[in-house]
Amino acid sequence: MEVIIQPDQEAASALAAALVARLVADKPDAVIGLCAGNTPLLLYRELISRHREEKLDFSRVTTFNLDEYVGIPPNHPASYGAFMQNHLLAGINVDPSRSHSPDGLADNILQSCELYEDLIKRSGGIDLQLLGIGVDGHLGFNEPSSSLASRTRIKTLTERTRSDNARPFGKKELVPRHVVTMGLGTILDARHCLLLAFGFGKASAVAKMVEGPVAAAVPASVLQLHPRVRVIIDEEAASQLRLADYYRAVYEGKPEWQAI
Ligand code: GLP
Repeated sequence: MEVIIQPDQEAASALAAALVARLVADKPDAVIGLCAGNTPLLLYRELISRHREEKLDFSRVTTFNLDEYVGIPPNHPASYGAFMQNHLLAGINVDPSRSHSPDGLADNILQSCELYEDLIKRSGGIDLQLLGIGVDGHLGFNEPSSSLASRTRIKTLTERTRSDNARPFGKKELVPRHVVTMGLGTILDARHCLLLAFGFGKASAVAKMVEGPVAAAVPASVLQLHPRVRVIIDEEAASQLRLADYYRAVYEGKPEWQAI
């Protein structure tokens, strides 16, 4: 796991955007997994401006959203489909037929989860999965106790996550109990993962993910098993890392041949 500590959210997001831009430039038909939440907002804004100002071309890119609420229509402002549309897709030139999301409204959700997995495979697999982290260490909507080998499926949210995600719904009682999320096994299949985390509120989850034991109780810790993960965080989110100075030294002394 490569931990990159940046002074603030702006610098971290700019670095993440540079990595995504490089992937898209090198592989115009890249497959990118997208995450929702406040964390990637600056990254998405930066990608939109690179598209507008530098003509970064997403026309052959395929996207897969990480997760979605069950029972919320795609035009509901709190749906992750709407989130992605509003905060990224409407501002870049991804072909809508290549943008995919788990279907939280399917009559047969189990079957639609299998189809989602098939679609990811048929698209050639995910080149880069973007991720945030929940304060309890969840990844996507893989709550603590999720199988480390899980695939796309329906999950029940913890009360904590329902409270944390209440804002766009108005109040916690309106947050669905059920969600569809790529599984931890699905995420591990991505060729690269890029996780962002900002603020003191994420510091404990980040420390457990990076330096704690691999455990279903902290789903993000499964990323320790992935060979190509970059964790880009601000100083606040890094504040509980025991080896922070080591991570800084590794990044600052990175040999040219290994440069980001
Ligand atoms: C949600 C999403 C996650 C996201 C997490 C953190 O539960 N399902 O994918 O990483 O919240 O959200 P935020 O970035 O708003 O802190």
